[in-house]
Amino acid sequence: METLKAISLRKSVRSYKPEQISDEVLEIIINSAFKAPIASAKYDSLHITVIQNTEIIKKMVVEAAEMVSKMINKKLDWDFGAPTLIIVSSTPAMMPGIEFANAACVLENMVLAATDQKVDSLIWGGPTGIIKQDALLKKSLGIPDEFSPVLCASFGYATDYEEPKEHTISVNRV
Ligand SMILES: Cc1cc2nc3c(=O)[nH]c(=O)nc-3n(C[C@H](O)[C@H](O)[C@H](O)COP(=O)(O)O)c2cc1C
Repeated sequence: METLKAISLRKSVRSYKPEQISDEVLEIIINSAFKAPIASAKYDSLHITVIQNTEIIKKMVVEAAEMVSKMINKKLDWDFGAPTLIIVSSTPAMMPGIEFANAACVLENMVLAATDQKVDSLIWGGPTGIIKQDALLKKSLGIPDEFSPVLCASFGYATDYEEPKEHTISVNRV
């Protein structure tokens, strides 16, 4: 698939079949993360955690949704059923926002590689909030002490096909 085609076909999917992605596709997705641009080339400021235990994923997303539902006083359902969750964690950056910028670059590369491989995805904050609050959970996921979860993405195969949405962003030219 050509790059522009993958970009135009990428979309956020929020309902997945149980079918797991293959290790071969997972490797392609992870290797694409390594090609992302990272501020000051500090690749060691990031850590990637791949979770494919669906019980662990379900428990985390349900707890995270309950936590945020209480905060915003609105019922959320984050149990999308995606069989792979990839969390990008970072050490504290020198300037505010760099952790998010780096994580977003890494995750966008991953979701575009996934689209190329006909795998659906969703970039989201997801359970990063509860992992930050729960040292035992963070440890059980193997996220090193000095790293903090920033952003994540779910991967799998959509239950139903939906067309990618059309968006625009305001642009001015000088
Ligand atoms: C940083 C970031 C955080 C996001 N968080 C959520 C989220 O918490 N829940 C969700 O359903 N989608 C989330 N999204 C997905 C956006 O809602 C989605 O990209 C947007 O609606 C455009 O739709 P599309 O991706 O299908 O083109 C997030 C996307 C980004 C980049």
